Amino acid sequence: MAILPLALNQVSLYADGKALLDAISLEIAKGPRTVILGPNGSGKSLLLRVFHGLIPPSKGSVSWRGEDARESRVRQAMVFQDPVMLRRSVAANVAYALRLNGIPASERNTRIQDALARTGLTELRNRPATVLSGGEQQRLALARVWALEPEILFLDEPTASLDPGATAAVEAIIDDMHSDGCKIVMTTHDLGQARRLADEVVFLHKGRIAERSAAPAFFEQPQSKTAQAFLDGRLMW
Ligand SMILES: Nc1ncnc2c1ncn2[C@@H]1O[C@H](COP(=O)(O)OP(=O)(O)OP(=O)(O)O)[C@@H](O)[C@H]1O
Ligand SMILES: [Mg+2]
Repeated sequence: MAILPLALNQVSLYADGKALLDAISLEIAKGPRTVILGPNGSGKSLLLRVFHGLIPPSKGSVSWRGEDARESRVRQAMVFQDPVMLRRSVAANVAYALRLNGIPASERNTRIQDALARTGLTELRNRPATVLSGGEQQRLALARVWALEPEILFLDEPTASLDPGATAAVEAIIDDMHSDGCKIVMTTHDLGQARRLADEVVFLHKGRIAERSAAPAFFEQPQSKTAQAFLDGRLMW
């Protein structure tokens, strides 16, 4: 059963009396790759965590179409800037994710093989995950989520610590997952990457949505003053 769209209704998040996210209402539907942009501290990572259910909002509601709480948990996945590797082999890292998410044992081997092949890790399948390079680790993080076949994937600056080659490899995997029908929602500081990957942009400023536009329109003719300043490198926070 489909869990999308995801809907936020007047979501706020407070800390020490300050609104880190401020009355955010939006719908995330199947289809376009959504890139969340905004200056440092604007709330991008917090918003992704709220989407993924890692942080409950102080006010407002987060709802998935699927009523089944377990379904909406296992059909969404998240990848972080610096993924945590388990102290076991590459293949066992994927196997662990499958077991944890209740994928039947009879399906696991095929899923592991597919996910490793699609992320270029087949040859490294028996290597301890902790000795992989940063780029390989990020590919393994993607293999772990790919194997789960999520309906939606959240990525928080997935290439921030990677060199251009490793970045291109991760972008190619993200694109493949999207072509396979997985909804992509990601943050990035790399405007080149945003232009390459985004179909639409949600622009955050000080915990609020300042603008949401189709990507070409956003980059060519941003509507909000803050987005204009951001794209010109004039918006510090
Ligand atoms: N647990 C917390 N308690 C108090 N403030 C917090 C907490 N977590 C985050 N913040 C603050 O919330 C704001 C938004 O943080 P967030 O990490 O979402 O920003 P961001 O847009 O992802 O920034 P960056 O581009 O640097 O990754 C920041 O000012 C941060 O200091
Ligand atoms: Mg962040």
